[in-house]
Amino acid sequence: MELQHHVRILSGVQPTGTLHLGNYFGMMRPCIEMQEKGETYLFIADYHALTQNPDPKLLNQRILEVAIDFLACGLDTNKTIFFRQTDVPEVTELTWILSCLTPIGLLERCHSYKDKIAQGMSPNNGLFTYPVLMASDILIYKSNVVPVGKDQKQHLEVTRDIAQRFNNQYGEILILPKAIIQEEVAVVPGVDGQKMSKSYDNTIEIFGAEKQIRKKFMKIVTDSTPMEESKNPDSCNVFALYKLFANESEIINLRERYLAGGMGYGHAKQELFELYWEYFRPMRDKRADLLKNPDTVREILNQGATVARNTASATMTEIKNSIGIR
Ligand code: ADP
Ligand code: TRP
Repeated sequence: MELQHHVRILSGVQPTGTLHLGNYFGMMRPCIEMQEKGETYLFIADYHALTQNPDPKLLNQRILEVAIDFLACGLDTNKTIFFRQTDVPEVTELTWILSCLTPIGLLERCHSYKDKIAQGMSPNNGLFTYPVLMASDILIYKSNVVPVGKDQKQHLEVTRDIAQRFNNQYGEILILPKAIIQEEVAVVPGVDGQKMSKSYDNTIEIFGAEKQIRKKFMKIVTDSTPMEESKNPDSCNVFALYKLFANESEIINLRERYLAGGMGYGHAKQELFELYWEYFRPMRDKRADLLKNPDTVREILNQGATVARNTASATMTEIKNSIGIR
């Protein structure tokens, strides 16, 4: 999609675990590519993470890790305003204001909330009002487009609904954002062939020790076609992952060797591992540097927060004036 430079793009990522290949291809890389297309705001959604009551030490560590991993993978702070959600407390202030315009039924219909209840979770109020906080994140920066995964589509509809209600009542202040849904990004399979997800314990991390990661690649589930027989690349998890890293001629070449027979899956796994390892090599080096300089990373987030907070407080002034709190 072609975007113009005055367009403001915004997305958020929750600091809930070690980032894996599904996160990279489904969310991180699209965000990093997006920064070429307009003014980008990207934040670490630590207020949202609180809905899961994380261990404080772990949360603190994960916030830093997510920041380091994004920077290592190519997030450019000359192009992107990168910050922590909690460094802009105005966003919770707006959440309250928007809550007073949000019908309870709108939130009760949200799938992500209903799914969690269906799983037997006893929900806290934060989990219930999660979409209002998300609306506030988007609206406070007057974002035009929001790239998200399919699972977040309904939350964007809720955001537009709330913004419309606000504008009807108080005047045209908020911008109705457009979601960019990453439908075209195939679901990255995990080592067991299901969607790669930390909840299925089937992930391959972006960064990790060579020996352990190599082992994970060797564990990728394949069928039991004997070595000498022809194999179907299109139903193979190894091939699906290979396609994410390889160039066109490498893909054609491996496809031919699958079809010809005589090549074992172990061999394909080794080749896949080598490609993966090379692909992330420069990012791994950059990450090693950043790990040695956590204060630099914190400083980057602080600088991003200063810019974000200016934008947010300007919107809050407009909002407060319009609702009668001056
Ligand atoms: P997990 O499923 O491991 O808990 P999250 O739900 O935290 O991952 O995902 C964060 C983002 O990464 C989501 O917006 C989603 O679009 C993307 N993502 C996660 N897993 C995959 C996958 N297997 N394939 C493609 N995208 C994924
Ligand atoms: N809820 C999003 C997720 O779990 C993270 C998020 C929070 C977000 N606020 C946002 C994404 C605002 C886009 C815009 O993936």
